[in-house]
Amino acid sequence: MKRKKMLFKFSDQYKNVLMIGNGHIPAFLYCSRKPVLIDPGVSAFGPLYLKKVKGHFQNLESLLIVLTHAHFDHCGATPYLIRNIQGVKVAASLQAAHILKRPNAIALIKRLNAEYEQEMKDDLKGEDVSFEAICVDIELDDADTLELGDREFFKVMSTPGHTRDCLSYYLPDDGIVFTGESAGVFEDGFMHSPFLTSYEDYVSSLKKIIGLKPRALAVAHNGILTGEDAEIFLAESLKAAEDYKNMIADCLTEYNGDSKRVVEKITADEYDSQPNHIQKRAPFILNLEAKVGAVARLMENKD
Ligand SMILES: [Fe+2]
Repeated sequence: MKRKKMLFKFSDQYKNVLMIGNGHIPAFLYCSRKPVLIDPGVSAFGPLYLKKVKGHFQNLESLLIVLTHAHFDHCGATPYLIRNIQGVKVAASLQAAHILKRPNAIALIKRLNAEYEQEMKDDLKGEDVSFEAICVDIELDDADTLELGDREFFKVMSTPGHTRDCLSYYLPDDGIVFTGESAGVFEDGFMHSPFLTSYEDYVSSLKKIIGLKPRALAVAHNGILTGEDAEIFLAESLKAAEDYKNMIADCLTEYNGDSKRVVEKITADEYDSQPNHIQKRAPFILNLEAKVGAVARLMENKD
């Protein structure tokens, strides 16, 4: 697929929202009276998130961890933070709450985090950052309101398509949406369209976010965009999703529906030919298999 060069200038702050953490796995900290930490990513970054949050708040007992979905790089540091902050509460979707208790999901999340733990072994100095089951205290559903005190709240929006459990959070006063991966992820001039469970759901979730006319977006793995940039990002993301779906559909047609060969071809074109990536190779392939599966189902349903 021909890469179209786009450029977005992400920032690390918008009003009371800060991006904290490292590299392509940032978490977002909303500094209200009740601090809110959105998507504390891989387990190995647990100590770093803790240090950064402590730098802004002395009393962490009212900290609320809010998850957009139950992927390893969005919830990985949550058990570490639960073990190290008394009184912390976790909010996530009903579906994520179930996933985060399932032994096979926990094993997968542990395995995908282990690569980062190994790489950061020296920095971690033997500290236990291991992942374990998460007990979600506040189970959320579409259109819920997550009260933050002082009349502040997140409007909860179900935005499936990347995963079935995806939620986005809208802070109406500031006009910012925490999209997780529901609105695409940008990497080196290329817009990723991570419609892992359903292309159609992904597109309708994206349109739902566009309908809010947000003044800012907090995008997982990227940072914060404001004003016209946020609007352009969403429009480009919508276009990119259609282009990517068509590219996979063309490949499936060319390889007579052989998903395995399609995954190998796209991995060679898109991953192995590029030097740097946001994602490690194993989760890239897992995600690509899911996207190819989503397009194959879409094509079957249209036949
Ligand atoms: Fe994800």
